[in-house]
Amino acid sequence: MDPQGGEARIQRQRAAGKLTARERIELLFDAETFEELDTLVTHRCLDFGMADKVVPGDGVIAGHGRVEGRLVYAFAQDFTVFGGSLSETNAAKIVKVMDHAMKMGAPIVGLNDSGGARIQEGVASLGGYADIFLRNTLASGVVPQISAVMGPCAGGAVYSPAITDFTIMVRNSSYMFVTGPDVIKTVTHEEVTKEELGGAMTHNERSGVAHFAVDDDRACLGLIRDLLRFLPSNNLDAPPDVESEDASDREDEALDRLIPASPNQPYDMLDLIHAIADSGEFLEVHRHFARNIIVGFARLGGRSVGIVANQPAHLAGTLDIDASVKGARFVRFCDAFNIPLITFEDVPGFLPGTEQEWGGIITNGAKLLYAFAEATVPKITVITRKAYGGAYCVMSSKHLRTDFNYAWPTAEVAVMGPEGAVSILYKKELEAAADPAAERAKRVSEFREKFANPLVAASRGFVDEVIRPRETRRKLILALATLKTKREKNPPKKHGNIPL
Ligand code: HXC
Repeated sequence: MDPQGGEARIQRQRAAGKLTARERIELLFDAETFEELDTLVTHRCLDFGMADKVVPGDGVIAGHGRVEGRLVYAFAQDFTVFGGSLSETNAAKIVKVMDHAMKMGAPIVGLNDSGGARIQEGVASLGGYADIFLRNTLASGVVPQISAVMGPCAGGAVYSPAITDFTIMVRNSSYMFVTGPDVIKTVTHEEVTKEELGGAMTHNERSGVAHFAVDDDRACLGLIRDLLRFLPSNNLDAPPDVESEDASDREDEALDRLIPASPNQPYDMLDLIHAIADSGEFLEVHRHFARNIIVGFARLGGRSVGIVANQPAHLAGTLDIDASVKGARFVRFCDAFNIPLITFEDVPGFLPGTEQEWGGIITNGAKLLYAFAEATVPKITVITRKAYGGAYCVMSSKHLRTDFNYAWPTAEVAVMGPEGAVSILYKKELEAAADPAAERAKRVSEFREKFANPLVAASRGFVDEVIRPRETRRKLILALATLKTKREKNPPKKHGNIPL
């Protein structure tokens, strides 16, 4: 066999719409920068006729190169060699680049395309997986880790991507599951296809296991490069600044009209994000999952920022279990990697219902609260409209050590919305009223006058300044400049105990 699995297997790879491992590596790195390690490593298995089947490199390409000039480590599993399965020796190759990446403080990219543990090697292969999982865990929060799933990723193998920071799946050619359709059929009698069970959209929309879905391998590798642009190489570095061609003091009058006249009418929070970001560019993470919260990367005045925003256009922007977990993980990533957090808030509260309560919205909502509270990176919040109840506290409120809290004049900061508040506060009056509807309207209007504005919060200093929507970009960039030297530390501890 040649260093790949032979022409027939390469053709099979292509027929499945996939590039080869080597082509993927070439597209990931800047031209001619990839330095491969361990090209002569082979497996040591003598069982099942394996002694006669030896492929130099043993089915994984590992090494380092440059992405936009910056050092990055990567491994690419080669499905044409024993189905990309993980042997003891190819696991050792992966471990070697992970150890290098940690020493050098450089990101790790894993291109997964594998039938899982090398069946012929038994527990030696399982040990190899565990060695990788340990490194994934130790590297978490030290260097960014990105996983691309570009073919099968099954069984325990899924736990490496799961520990890494971002997982990208390629539509129609990738799948991830702990147990496949056949086992499921035997055990639970459910019938499900591979695609339904663990295809790209299943994990992007339903489970949230994957953060991105892309159409093909090229788009996948391009996305990894795009993502790396926003990230520092490690937790001791700042993310790379770029020259912004977009004026820092650019104002957008349209923002003054973004909030609809009726408080219950939705609007698209993405319009605000695109309006304030440098050149309108926003790399949305987890776009298809928990769409009631938006997370992703943008630049402001050339600086990389993480944006977390309620989305009133979906479930009215309420926080539910999925949105809380999605937000929390993103906040923790940004905090670990020195990326300032910008929060746009329009949240009517936590999503009510038995499904949410029984599903553990208490513990899960607490994750987002915890993540914002422990984050020590520069934090800036803009309340555009509703900031109600517990969700007010959670969404990077002043009380959670947020550095700058701005509000638009349309902000409503209150324990709950006027309708709900009036129903509770004036229950008896409403029952006794000759015209309950008129009484309700009067009370709602009174409540709105008193609380449905940012003034009470601003008078207490919980909101630092009421700003005009059009000046949001300028204000954020000024605040970021002020916060450039921010230093804040949490109490010394082994680690916190986030409510998992
Ligand atoms: C050794 C493997 C292999 C494996 C595939 N191959 N998986 N060799 N160990 N795990 C080989 C095949 O023998 C074949 O070799 C080539 O790779 C391509 O495989 P095909 O089956 O022909 O390809 P395809 O039809 O595309 O199916 C791909 C597949 C299937 C769905 C991944 O191969 C499969 O089900 N493989 C086994 C999956 C599995 O159960 N793995 C263990 C999971 S448990 P030739 O020579 O014909 O080209 C696990 C534990 C991890 O991974 C533990 C961590 C805690």
